[in-house]
Amino acid sequence: MVGNEKEYMAQAIAAGSTAGDGPFTRKCSQLLEQQLGVPKVLLTTSCTHALEMFAILLAIQPGDEVIIPAFTFVSTVNAFVLRGARPVFVDVRPDTLNLDESRLEDLLTSRTKAIAPVHYAGVGCEMDTILEIANRHAVAVVEDNAHGLFGKYKGKYLGTFGRMAAQSFHETKNFSCGEGGALLINDPELVERAEIIREKGTNRSRFFRGQVDKYTWVDIGSSYLPSDILAAYLYAQLENRPKIQAHRRRIWEFYDAALKDWAAAHEVRLPHVPASCEQSYHMYYLLLPTLELRQGLITHLRQRGVQGVFHYLPLHLSEMGRRFGGQPGECPVTERVSDQLIRLPFHNALTEPEMVRVVEALRDYEF
Ligand SMILES: Cc1ncc(COP(=O)(O)O)c(C=O)c1O
Repeated sequence: MVGNEKEYMAQAIAAGSTAGDGPFTRKCSQLLEQQLGVPKVLLTTSCTHALEMFAILLAIQPGDEVIIPAFTFVSTVNAFVLRGARPVFVDVRPDTLNLDESRLEDLLTSRTKAIAPVHYAGVGCEMDTILEIANRHAVAVVEDNAHGLFGKYKGKYLGTFGRMAAQSFHETKNFSCGEGGALLINDPELVERAEIIREKGTNRSRFFRGQVDKYTWVDIGSSYLPSDILAAYLYAQLENRPKIQAHRRRIWEFYDAALKDWAAAHEVRLPHVPASCEQSYHMYYLLLPTLELRQGLITHLRQRGVQGVFHYLPLHLSEMGRRFGGQPGECPVTERVSDQLIRLPFHNALTEPEMVRVVEALRDYEF
């Protein structure tokens, strides 16, 4: 907790507005719309659900192809596969671990409906190139910005480049309400249908605005609204964004400064943030030279009471990925970095003595 989480939740309960789209939900949406300059923000029950809404809004049909980085969370791909899409996995760049835009042209076909870049660790993908290629092929770009709220690429907020973007407010993210997310809609044409899909396929939002005199079933949909109690918690976090982001920046810069020499001496790679990007300070990771050294380091840190964790496994080599024809060697950078990567403790309550302990434990690791 960073501010008025408990007070706001108590207010939501006292007001009896505990279902979705209450006063705190509106406050969160308005804050995000104003700060990011997005025409419409809809809070959702998770980033996963915002991604599922992408696929419905893009009218993805069985046999359509969607290009997705092989190095991402399962939800990025599952959302489209649920609608019958065939995922086409693209490898990531070795520097930022973001979708490698130089591979897109080779993967685009007449069936490609969308490209879904993921701003890994809240560092922006090469959006200029991605958008140029997508526009040339008349393919939608939708951003999985689970990590990147308030990060920027060339001075513009992540999540404002594609037709839509998805945010996560899961416990592990910079801003959280336990489980939650948001759909950012940059294409105004999608707004009305998004409201319907989020409200069980009904035109309930139009009814509440007095635009229709009763509401009814008008489309497919589901229940993607979070309770206003969760929105109350989230609002307290979003209100404190300067405090949260400043603390996370301190953590990131502390690790980066403290580990530079150590990393160079042991051929450990630290995160790369291109000059065109202002990152969101979501994560600090290391790339060890080999899987064995990474596994050894996880064990060593655990013995010292420090939790270092790996991240995504290559999606094209997962059980599901192989059903779609995934083969070893297809995305070599993903396959390599997935073995090498370890994330360091990084959360809003992390203290300086804890950061010092992490760095000391790393320095004591015998290569
Ligand atoms: C890139 C990415 N997309 C989507 C998600 C899913 O987020 P949520 O738990 O809010 O559904 C995650 C989860 O961490 C993620 O890393």
